[in-house]
Amino acid sequence: MKLAILSREPHTYSTKRLVEACKKRGHKARVLNTLQFAIDLEEGDPDLFYRQRRLSHYDAVLPRIGASITYFGTAVVRQFQQMDVFCANTADGILNSRDKLRCLQNLSRHKIGIPATTFVKDKKDVLPAITRVGGAPVIIKLLEGTQGIGVLLAHSQEMAASIIELLQSQKQNVLIQKFVSESRGRDIRAIVVGDQVVAAMRRVAQGQEFRSNVHRGGKTEAVELDEAYKETAIRATKIMGLGVAGVDMLESHEGPQIMEVNSSPGLEGIEACTKLDVAGAIIDYIAARVDFPEIDIRQRLTVSRGYGVAEIIIPEGSKFIGKTIVESGLKEKDINVLTLHRGGKVIPNPRAERQIESEDKLLCFGKIETMKELVPERTRRRRRPKLKKLPEIDI
Ligand SMILES: Nc1ncnc2c1ncn2[C@@H]1O[C@H](COP(=O)(O)OP(=O)(O)O)[C@@H](O)[C@H]1O
Ligand SMILES: [Mg+2]
Repeated sequence: MKLAILSREPHTYSTKRLVEACKKRGHKARVLNTLQFAIDLEEGDPDLFYRQRRLSHYDAVLPRIGASITYFGTAVVRQFQQMDVFCANTADGILNSRDKLRCLQNLSRHKIGIPATTFVKDKKDVLPAITRVGGAPVIIKLLEGTQGIGVLLAHSQEMAASIIELLQSQKQNVLIQKFVSESRGRDIRAIVVGDQVVAAMRRVAQGQEFRSNVHRGGKTEAVELDEAYKETAIRATKIMGLGVAGVDMLESHEGPQIMEVNSSPGLEGIEACTKLDVAGAIIDYIAARVDFPEIDIRQRLTVSRGYGVAEIIIPEGSKFIGKTIVESGLKEKDINVLTLHRGGKVIPNPRAERQIESEDKLLCFGKIETMKELVPERTRRRRRPKLKKLPEIDI
């Protein structure tokens, strides 16, 4: 395999380790400076130039895109994807995880632990928002901070409101988040590669500090994660659409709660702490996946006119309940069931003999008109009632 590592830092520990792991396995690796690409667009022929010369063939790409070059960096990754080169992390995956709001928005429709978080613009909404996430002390976060720099703990509502007002006046977007005090300055960093957690550590903040980032002086210890933590980290990585990620989780009373997902996790801290070959695991994953570049469903499947992807929810009393997929007659109606979602579990490619149950969600590809008939008005998505009774008004 010939691998391109997109990075502006060829001499950092992480990049050097990735190149070394690649060579050790008999692959070729080159570190390419993300900012020295030119993206050429022509009808039917997406292309890339590197330092003014047409880029030679690469089998795979490992993007290590820093926050300061997100726009250009993800454009380069997207171009590799258009050229059908396998990218360990896709442009959309990187963008989904880059900003903390977008990351939590993507996670929040799934059954996955996250700290209660809110995002407001209007000054009048600030105090009620703080109350909704549990009141002071409360966490305030910049959307794109790293290394703990953009994370603050406000001890009173008034303090929180003034900090938010100040940041907003400087055109900064901020999240208001419940302070998970029981985590006591500790968090978990899990490195997910493909479908597995390949290494994990606990970071412990020192002294009065509540942030456990290594850059804030946090000390690390290797941990063997239990299933709930592993499962949460892997699912979050999948929901982001990433192949390689560093997932940060708090250890709350309710179990794992995700704070953020990083698409270019540093390797130095985790390898030093766990003594595991994380770089090697990343390279092995890429080598195994080289022949399966990510296919953009929207771009490929829904190009056919009149066809699309829809989720059919099976309501109580539906005529489909108790029938198998083959008996449901969906196939004859030109509808294919891609996945079946049942109580938080996903069954990919469900077999024809599988029985349909009430509340199942069938992700289908087929004729839009026919699928419309299968979604009776009363089952179209409704807002679920809140567990905690909050005032609602009709607008
Ligand atoms: N809601 C929270 N409750 C308690 N501690 C938190 C919370 N959010 C963040 N922290 C602490 O602050 C650190 C940095 O937060 P994080 O969201 O990961 O931002 P960054 O991108 O700067 O690392 C975390 O590692 C954790 O120790
Ligand atoms: Mg973090």
